[in-house]
Amino acid sequence: MASFDVIIIGAGPGGYVCAIRCAQLGLKVAVVEGRETLGGTCLNVGCIPSKALLHATHSLHEAEHNFAKMGLKGKSPSVDWDQMKAYKQDVVDGNTKGIEFLFKKNKVTWLKGWGTIPAAGQVKVGDEVHEAKNIVIATGSEAASLPGVEVDEKTVVTSTGALVLGKIPKSMVVIGAGVIGLEMGSVYARLGSEVTVVEYLDAITPGMDAEVAKSFQKILTKQGLKFILGAAVQGVSTKNGKAKVTYKLRKDDSETVLDADCVLVATGRKPFVDGLGLEALGVEMEKRGQVKTDHFATNIKGLYAIGDAIVGPMLAHKAEDEGMALAEVLAGKAGHVNYDVIPGVVYTTPEVASVGKTEEQLKEAGRAYKVGKFSFMGNARAKAIFQAEGFVKILADKETDRILGAHIIGPMAGDLIHEVCVAMEFGASAQDLALTCHAHPTYSEAVREAALACGDGAIHA
Ligand code: NAI
Repeated sequence: MASFDVIIIGAGPGGYVCAIRCAQLGLKVAVVEGRETLGGTCLNVGCIPSKALLHATHSLHEAEHNFAKMGLKGKSPSVDWDQMKAYKQDVVDGNTKGIEFLFKKNKVTWLKGWGTIPAAGQVKVGDEVHEAKNIVIATGSEAASLPGVEVDEKTVVTSTGALVLGKIPKSMVVIGAGVIGLEMGSVYARLGSEVTVVEYLDAITPGMDAEVAKSFQKILTKQGLKFILGAAVQGVSTKNGKAKVTYKLRKDDSETVLDADCVLVATGRKPFVDGLGLEALGVEMEKRGQVKTDHFATNIKGLYAIGDAIVGPMLAHKAEDEGMALAEVLAGKAGHVNYDVIPGVVYTTPEVASVGKTEEQLKEAGRAYKVGKFSFMGNARAKAIFQAEGFVKILADKETDRILGAHIIGPMAGDLIHEVCVAMEFGASAQDLALTCHAHPTYSEAVREAALACGDGAIHA
């Protein structure tokens, strides 16, 4: 038995960041992780491998569609799927080993195995019980199941199986037009699969600014993805490695069956807290299965939870911020997360990024606002790389000009959004952004132009 100031269960972005910060603040810390490698879903089977596949397939798209335009002639590359998966795995391995290195550097103990909490202040891993003044649940989430759909991770897959398909399917049905569905759907569409996305709602990416979502759908349709909206999937059957997907249109209840070589179920995720022993401990839970917390503290003294296991957007960076904030709280400091400034990014091409309020939310709240919009058509850099289709939209308070939200669809949107995040953290006005000199020629000039459009007008519009 060993004794620690903090034991964190789960080495995903929430858990490992919390551990490193705890160690930096002088606490004796251990992380329980049952996977062979650190980094959780994000590094092993989520954010990182999917970005590798998105990069590889975007490169293929460039070679097939844009190289000749730039005078780069010759045969397009052929796809060696096994090599592409090996490259993806190399990227994953490099990153997970990186976390192992950071644990050693910061003297974080890795307790290998699956942890349970037999009693307050105790964590059991294998046959050993360890003691801790504080325990943090950072166990993340898993794919939610869909009634009538049995996942075999071969023909009917979640995002995990979608990363390692035996071969590139001729046809793929994606259930759910959320972030996972569109990112992985893009990967396979670029690899030549016929991708059909079936979505329950009447728009893709629920919660996204409606104007951006509409434009996003148009662009993805041009890239070859097919969308069936307002359609509830009833079930999936499989036979000899082929699938049949039955859906009902919500408007008239009509039923249709789609054939597919592969079905990706991307209808959301749920907290993964099974087997921790929370019920026996009497830990209060939310109705939707998350651990109930107040500033990360559960109802049990010394037991905390962060990341996908608690309420809030299921995003790696939200978990990381909570991990850092909780470490500070445990070290006697004032840890804080500003939930009003958490960006969201979809890593398709173009990327889509947002922070703060959408127009729909502002309307619903009855808030007087103004819109500054700038199309990437007016941005020289975007035009040079054939990505001038999107736009930047900044929403600011009508009276005070304070930035309330930003929505970007276009090149490097996932990086550009952070300029607005920093501005929002400082309570900046759109004019503050507009008066900041931006290097030319950069994509970020489009952000400045949108800020200018909140005032006397953009220059290149
Ligand atoms: P999601 O919640 O983003 O989207 C699920 C979609 O499925 C919704 O549009 C929903 O209306 C639809 N749906 C549900 N039941 C359906 C049915 N029976 N028939 C048809 N459509 C149905 O979930 P997703 O994409 O699985 O992602 C899970 C979580 O992982 C999300 O919280 C997401 O933010 C996170 N994630 C974030 C990424 C990023 O930040 N780039 C990348 C991947 C995942």
